[in-house]
Amino acid sequence: MVDHASLSGKRVLLVIAGGIAAYKSLDLIRRLRERGVGVRAVLTEAGARFVTPLSVQALTEDTVYRDLWSLTDESEMGHIRLSREADLIVVAPATANLLARMAAGMADDLAATVLLATDKPVLVAPAMNVRMWEHPATQDNMARLERRGVRRVGPNEGVMACNEFGPGRMAEPMEIIDAIATHFADAAHKPQAHTPLSGKRALVTSGPTHEPIDPVRYIANRSSGKQGHAIAEALARLGAAVTLVSGPTRLPDPPGCAVVAIETAREMLAACEAALPVDIAVCAAAVADWRVAGTSDRKLKKDGGGPPSLSLTENPDILATLSQAGPRRPALVIGFAAETGDVVAYATAKRARKGCDWIVANDVSLGTTTFGGADNTVHVIRADGAEAWPTMGKDAVGARLAEAIAAHFHPPAP
Ligand code: CTP
Repeated sequence: MVDHASLSGKRVLLVIAGGIAAYKSLDLIRRLRERGVGVRAVLTEAGARFVTPLSVQALTEDTVYRDLWSLTDESEMGHIRLSREADLIVVAPATANLLARMAAGMADDLAATVLLATDKPVLVAPAMNVRMWEHPATQDNMARLERRGVRRVGPNEGVMACNEFGPGRMAEPMEIIDAIATHFADAAHKPQAHTPLSGKRALVTSGPTHEPIDPVRYIANRSSGKQGHAIAEALARLGAAVTLVSGPTRLPDPPGCAVVAIETAREMLAACEAALPVDIAVCAAAVADWRVAGTSDRKLKKDGGGPPSLSLTENPDILATLSQAGPRRPALVIGFAAETGDVVAYATAKRARKGCDWIVANDVSLGTTTFGGADNTVHVIRADGAEAWPTMGKDAVGARLAEAIAAHFHPPAP
């Protein structure tokens, strides 16, 4: 339960763009007003096709701002003032088009101009068709905005107005209000953001890889991506510009990270190389060591000749490749080791073999739930020895690792 006490007396500028979810924005206004929030609304031209300016005006009890060129609005309230007089700008629904215009820094209507002119925090609630959300253009735009500090709530997964299923539904009004309250509570408790990694670039690999056998079958493993995603999020929270290269997972993109989705080990290597140069590389992915040699581009059939035999060939080792000495080697390279006994001894040998700086070793013996589970028990192996960390949630391991990385770059004064 998020406490809404921080909301009373706050001023929100709500930008309503043109999407079917705009009807939920009316409910959002009503619920914000009930909690003592002053709401002023900007309606895009497309937004006004989904909700009437009159409804918005009645609910906000204020003028609805629509036109960049309206003399009345400009004389009463210039767009600069409009954007500065709020404590927070909320874009709900944030359409693919508006996100693209925000990412490009365009100022071609009142909404985009206000968003470009503002020095206030911005929260977006994306809403669009699932394919539009998953399109690399939208994902790139969203990642770019998040790197600039734009916060996001949703989109949620579900059946959409267009009858497709997947992520794209706008977050519910109460979820948006929770995100707004969290923003204000964070701002109140964080007099100074703790961003020791600002200015640093980080690359994190996460999740499994899928190695195709034929167009419909693949070899995979049980990695959930939880640990890698938690590390990426924790590094971004400390101010690093994070690229997360991830195999297929069921996890939402961690806020503040640029996410590159890949399937195979070779794609993961190419995406990592494209992200260089970075200061920090953390290889948390469970990369398949082997792929099928000579995959079939036609589905393998039962042809009466018995089961097919698969011949495997070795995948590139991404951690070892990134660890190689040279001008592009990240200053700090961290690998993971999944061991089923003699954890520290095997992981220490692995550190030397791969050429990385630190190894985070975990025990994946039968009976432990490291793979797929919420907790992790790790040893961190560095040049000067091994440190055993207590069992904790994967988020906590991510946060502690990110702090250790920050301390590596800014060692405490002796
Ligand atoms: N790794 C990688 N590319 C590979 C294989 C592994 O980047 N092709 C990275 C993983 O992300 C992890 C570390 O290397 O950081 C794990 O090394 P690996 O040799 O796969 O060891 P384990 O998974 O621990 O298993 P094993 O020792 O049995 O090989």
